[in-house]
Order: sequence, then structure tokens, then C-alpha cells
Amino acid sequence: MSMEDLVAELGAREARLRLGGGEKALAKRKEQGRLTARERLDLLFDPGSFVEIDLHVRHRGTELGMAERETPAEGVVTGFGTVDGRTVYAFSQDFTVMGGSLGEMHARKIQKVQEMALKAGCPIVGIQDSGGARIQEHIDALNGYGRIFFNNTLASGVIPQISVIMGPCAGGAVYSPGLTDFIFMVDKTSYMYITGPEVIKAVTGETTTHEALGGAQAHCERSGVAHFRAPDEPSCLAAVRRLLSFLPSNNVDDPPPGPATDPIWRAEERLLHIVPDNPNKPYDVREVITAVVDGGDFLEVQPGWAMNMVVGFARLDGRTVGIVANQARVLAGCIDINASDKAARFIRFCDAFNIPVITFVDTPGYLPGTAQEYGGIIRHGAKLLYAYCEATVPKLVVVLRKAYGGAYLAMSSQSLGADFTVAWPTAEIAVMGADGAANILFKPGPEVEDPQAARAEWVARYKEKFNTPYNAAGRGFVEAVIDPRQTRPLLAQALRALGTKRESRPAKKHGNFPV
Ligand code: HXC
Repeated sequence: MSMEDLVAELGAREARLRLGGGEKALAKRKEQGRLTARERLDLLFDPGSFVEIDLHVRHRGTELGMAERETPAEGVVTGFGTVDGRTVYAFSQDFTVMGGSLGEMHARKIQKVQEMALKAGCPIVGIQDSGGARIQEHIDALNGYGRIFFNNTLASGVIPQISVIMGPCAGGAVYSPGLTDFIFMVDKTSYMYITGPEVIKAVTGETTTHEALGGAQAHCERSGVAHFRAPDEPSCLAAVRRLLSFLPSNNVDDPPPGPATDPIWRAEERLLHIVPDNPNKPYDVREVITAVVDGGDFLEVQPGWAMNMVVGFARLDGRTVGIVANQARVLAGCIDINASDKAARFIRFCDAFNIPVITFVDTPGYLPGTAQEYGGIIRHGAKLLYAYCEATVPKLVVVLRKAYGGAYLAMSSQSLGADFTVAWPTAEIAVMGADGAANILFKPGPEVEDPQAARAEWVARYKEKFNTPYNAAGRGFVEAVIDPRQTRPLLAQALRALGTKRESRPAKKHGNFPV
């Protein structure tokens, strides 16, 4: 055969393989309003940049009818391309091929792109749409999952790993996404669970549905398993691109700089009026964040879960920063189990990828209650402490209002290694609030004629003396008490000054993080 004939044959062979489960199956996906595995990759990557690898890989199963079975591309499309010009590796499971089920060679394809991404120091995005372990390939399939988990763990903290759930993801298959840094889900069409509704019904008698049990809402608002949800597949993939724009390719590269169009000396008048004069009134801390960061551009992570703690990415002086903030309008900004977990995991991601952390503090303390104590707030709260102590990236802090007791300590206090702390004049940095202190310390003797008035006076004196930023400033626990309008210029200057920060720690295999 001539080269032309061979090339034509190659073209025909590849075209057949790219059809996945065939025209009928692809048409069915379209009818369901779903994109195909390849269409998803086309939307994820810069146009025309995706390079597919391992298209010709075949399964090696022989049992339960597998010997005669064709599985084009082994049910998963793998390769690399660019997102905003930077290389990203990806795999995308093809549900039209045996339900995207994972057999030995399907797993090998995923493992290979994981290994390539790790070697090249590039992010990896996994698009999950699969019925789980391919039953016909029994323990070879299980073994395949195990190696994927192993690779996820090796890559953790070295390259960003992102999972995008665009169909079923059930059983042990959920643990690869569970080991990655960020999980995206699509409303109504994606679900994740260890055991599905049928098994639950059989074992416990409980009745539930795929969506209620493991849909985007369940995982973005109740379990905290997922980080982002989108109304449809194209907007989900656009959101993945946006997240990647904030992240470095690996743990030694810098994130791409943002546009330097917002001057760092911008003094923001709005900041005088966001935090109410009445310390018991709520406000939305995201208004403070967007007033401070470049262009007001803030990508909130897990916006629907543990909403008393706000975390996300922004830029300051063109440089990616991680933001952690108490949200005064949810549970008055109290720290609870979920808020601790959420912030701790986020801080650890930032630290692993050299992203400075800016913390906005306004918290009256840990959430009291038996549910919190029995739920292990000591263990979970310790994660937040651990994460801040462990982080060696620049740590900047703005105390907006309340910073009481243990919660003051936990929110990146100087004693946990904060590098630069400023307080607004509204800050109340104290061991506890005035009323709480009065409950313990104010004991009017029998000679006091009007105990209520005496208590009010005691509280007022306490507030004046202790609920201010000046005690902390007087001890050097905050570097400056500032005009709120100067927040952005000061943070940006401190960030520049800390650009060369290096902090070494005792050598160890790894710490024992309080999981
Ligand atoms: C082999 C599978 C499969 C699987 C689906 N298919 N899942 N083949 N192994 N795990 C095949 C179906 O046989 C069918 O093939 C095609 O994919 C489409 O599946 P349907 O059932 O027709 O689609 P749908 O109605 O949309 O239902 C999707 C589904 C269902 C809910 C995912 O297929 C399902 O429940 N699958 C099994 C899920 C499961 O129990 N997986 C194993 C989990 S154990 P044809 O030829 O008819 O088109 C596991 C352990 C991992 O994953 C452990 C890791 C540590």
C-alpha cells in the first residue's frame, strides 16, 4: 500500500474510533442535552489545541463477552492542550462506550496522563462520566482504580488536580475526585455517592433519589464534597478555565499574573461604610473583599457550604492570593466544624502552591453547642490552627471587627505566624466580648443599689478598655491600626515586601494533620 493509502486507512480507523459508542449512542446523548466526551474537551481547551493520545488502546478482557467486544478509545479520551496558553492534561470518560466503565486499559490511559502531567508539572482535569468499575474486568478494574488513587496522592501538592463530574460517579470511583483539589458538578445531570438509592433502600429502607442523594446541590450545600456547581456543561467548563487562570501550573511556578490595570494605591471610600457601627449588625464580608482586590474579581470556592466562612481566589497587585474571611451575616461569623474544615483545606492548597493568604477577621468565637462538641469541633478546629501554623506562604491579616479568644488565635493570629496584621479602628481584639466577661466577672455586692445599671457601667468600661484594637497594637500583636480606605494599598505593599519571604521548618517525613 502507498503512504497515501495507509494515511487514508489511518483516517478511517481514527474516525471510527472517535465515534465512540456509535452514531446512535451519540445522538442519544445530544437528545439528553449532554455533550460528548470530546465536545467537553473542546470547550475546556483553547480552540484546536487538544492533542489526543492513546486513541488506539484496546481492552484485554476475555470474560463475560468481552473477547468479542469493541471499546473505541477504551471509553476514555486522554491527552493535553492549552488553557489560556498554558499546558493542561486531561481525561474525559465516554459514557457511550460501555457506560464509561473503567477496565484495566481504561485505567491505564488515565494513569498515563496523570504521570505525564506530574512529570511536566502541569494541572490535570478529569471529566468523570462513568458507571464505575467495569464488571466484566473484575479485579483488574479495581486494581486500575487503586493506581489512579495512588497517582492522585503522589500529585497532591505538586500539580493542581481538578475533577469535573458530568454524569454518574459512584462507588469507589468517587475517591479519585475525592483526592483531588477541586470538584465541579453540573445541576441535575451529575451525581456522586458511595452507595446509590437502590442499595440504600435495600440495606436501610431509606428512600431517596440520585439527585437528592448525590446531586450538585447535595454536595455543594450539604456534604461539602464539591466546590463549584454550574447550571449546564458549557458553563461548568468555562468555570474550570476561570479557576485555572488563578492557579500556578505546579508547586514551583508562579500563577500567571493578572492584568495590572487596578492601581495598588486605590483608596476605597466604600470601606468606611460596609461594617456597621453597631457591632451586632451583620454585613456581607464579600463586599469588603471585592472592594480591596484587583478589579473586584473574587472567585469564591464552596460558596454554598459552611457559609459562615468565605474562601476563594482573587488577585492583589496582579498576583493570585487566597482569601479567608469570617462571614458575619451567617451564624454571626462563628467558627464551626464545617467552617474549620473548609478553611483548613483551602489554606493548605494555597500553601502547597505558594499562594499568599489574606485573612479578614470578624468572629465572636467558636459555635457553642453539644452538636459541635460531639461532632468533634476540637478535632476539626485543630485543622484550622494546624493549617495556618503549617503555612509558610505570606500570611496577611485584616481585623475588621470582632476577634475574640480562641477564634482570634485561630484566624491567622500573629502567634500562629502571621507576617503582617492590620486592624481597623472598629476592631475588638480581646479574650472575649464584654457581656461574656460580665457574666463571669461582674458580681455586684449587696451594697449595689441598681445592679443592672452597675452592670451596664461595668460593660461600658470593659468595652472601652478591652474591646479595641489598641491593646493588641500596644503589644505589637498588630502592626498598625489603619483607616479602612488604606486597606488595599497597605496589603499590596506588604505583599510586595513579603515577595522574598522564605521560612524553613524542622525536617520531618510529614506532620500528623488532625484529620
Ligand atoms: C460494565 C456498564 C457498567 C459497569 C454501565 N455499564 N455500568 N458495563 N460495567 N460498571 C453499561 C451498561 O451495561 C450499558 O451497556 C451501558 O453501560 C449504559 O448503561 P445503562 O445502564 O443503560 O445507562 P443508564 O440507564 O444511564 O444508567 C447508568 C448507571 C447504570 C446508573 C451508571 O449503568 C449502573 O447502575 N451501572 C452500574 C453501576 C455500578 O454498580 N458500578 C460498579 C460500581 S463498583 P449496553 O451494552 O447495554 O449499552 C465500583 C467499585 C470501584 O465502581 C471501586 C474502586 C475502589
